[in-house]
Amino acid sequence: MPELIPVLNKNDIDNMVARVARRISSDYQDRELILIGILKGAFVFLSDLARHLTIPVKLDFIRVCSYGSDVSSSGNIRLTKEIEIDVNNKDVLLVEDIVDTGLTLSFIIDYLKTFNPKTVKICALLDKHERRSENIKIDYACHEAAEGFLVGYGLDYNEDYRYLAGIYHLKL
Ligand code: IMP
Ligand code: MG
Repeated sequence: MPELIPVLNKNDIDNMVARVARRISSDYQDRELILIGILKGAFVFLSDLARHLTIPVKLDFIRVCSYGSDVSSSGNIRLTKEIEIDVNNKDVLLVEDIVDTGLTLSFIIDYLKTFNPKTVKICALLDKHERRSENIKIDYACHEAAEGFLVGYGLDYNEDYRYLAGIYHLKL
């Protein structure tokens, strides 16, 4: 049986999301911010983050598929849902659940830049650097994750565990 080891509980997550939301609210005061959540993993984080912000924002989602193993992305990434909002000359903040190699985000940044946004920054719930291969800057990271595979709070393993309120280390 797979084992779930608690890493962050509901309260820990709430505090870290509130902290990052305060930074974003202050940095983007009087600007037109568009949050773009990366499906599916970021759906829980984005909904909490948006409600912690004290500035008005617009929202959209993007979805990509990556063919790889269950626990790592292959870099063979395909866009399966385009953005629908106009980002031309707007400030965009990409909201991701977890950054591992960085391949997914660098693919999405390249795609977004074709729509000429004014700025593109990155907000990630979890920043896992041990396997980072792409040179990307995570502007807002809620938590630096150690090694291992994490699930819960939107993050899945083969579509399981997304519904969990906390974040767990999955031991297979
Ligand atoms: P990257 O392209 O290697 O940065 O991988 C990023 C994507 O892989 C994320 O959007 C997640 O969907 C998935 N991923 C990477 N590490 C984990 C993890 O520890 N748990 C759950 N999903 C992960
Ligand atoms: Mg994801």
